[in-house]
Amino acid sequence: MTTPQDNHAEAQAAAPMVSVRDLRVTFSGGGKTIRAVNGVSLDVAPGEALALIGESGSGKSVTLRALMRLHPPRRTRMEGAIRIDGADVMALDARALQRLRGGTVAMVFQEPLLALDPVYTVGQQIIECIRTHASVSASEARQRALRALESVRIPSPERRLAAYPHEMSGGMRQRAMIALALSASPKVLLADEPTTALDATVQIQVLILLRELQRELGLSIVFVTHDIGAAVEIADRVAVMYGGRIVEEGPIRTLLRAARHPYTIALLQSRQHGMDRGQRLQTIAGSPPDLAALPPGCTFAPRCPHARPACLAQVPATTDLGQGHRVSCILASEPAVAEAAA
Ligand SMILES: Nc1ncnc2c1ncn2[C@@H]1O[C@H](COP(=O)(O)OP(=O)(O)OP(=O)(O)O)[C@@H](O)[C@H]1O
Ligand SMILES: [Mg+2]
Repeated sequence: MTTPQDNHAEAQAAAPMVSVRDLRVTFSGGGKTIRAVNGVSLDVAPGEALALIGESGSGKSVTLRALMRLHPPRRTRMEGAIRIDGADVMALDARALQRLRGGTVAMVFQEPLLALDPVYTVGQQIIECIRTHASVSASEARQRALRALESVRIPSPERRLAAYPHEMSGGMRQRAMIALALSASPKVLLADEPTTALDATVQIQVLILLRELQRELGLSIVFVTHDIGAAVEIADRVAVMYGGRIVEEGPIRTLLRAARHPYTIALLQSRQHGMDRGQRLQTIAGSPPDLAALPPGCTFAPRCPHARPACLAQVPATTDLGQGHRVSCILASEPAVAEAAA
């Protein structure tokens, strides 16, 4: 017999806010084909935060931008399925896509100066955003803009409403950008390294703020970062990307305790070996794969201390280790080897 709670739990499990299946993104130009994303699948539940982590060039930003179809269509081939809040993103026309961007889905990028227009005050921009996505009076929009600035803990919000972006510190601008992103009451926040341009103390404050807002507003967050420390601060789950694929995924605590993919293990070790918060991950021997000439097998095999001939032959299947912990590595079924790697 099923109880109402079971039904509720089932409905939650059955209806992720963001759902991606076998996403592939290929860029062409200059006689080359760059396979930046090669079969990414992920689900984010309502109110859940997922961090995408991995080295530079692993396809984190391309994946995030693809969710909103932000890549120039002429040079980009996109395949796979993307559903956000029930909408089939791949099938949306330009107007519906525009409504989704900045409406249901808010985006925050690394450099707030790029998102904030220098010739308008912060208040004008937030009010404009509110009025684009909701039919409210000018005074109601102003009230909401004030509340948005208050919600990101900006001191003297009245005064900040009249400030231009260049009149604010980096941390304040980042908060103003988050306020702008949240002013249209989104359900999903896509954030691409929103804190790496900030100094360490401000970074932590902004991360804590994002976490609080996520809890208050029940936001689903997909958060891109190089920084495992930032992922720990924000994420419920982590997806580790390498060569445009998710090689391991699971609850953050599980990955910290029991990572199974040699790449994840190397990534965690590179952090333990003195990597400070905010620094780029550079300490894994070897170089990232050439996305214009991907090998047929596991993309990490050429750098993997445990690689065998089978790893070079075909892309490893994904093993489900339970509790949302999945890993794409043939070693996953051999705990002794995985433990030796750790
Ligand atoms: N518009 C484009 N045209 C061609 N190649 C691209 C384009 N955008 C990204 N790439 C390539 O796709 C790969 C993945 O890039 P992406 O920006 O997703 O990496 P990333 O994981 O976000 O790295 P970083 O941590 O440095 O931000 C890179 O090799 C990049 O050069
Ligand atoms: Mg990036």
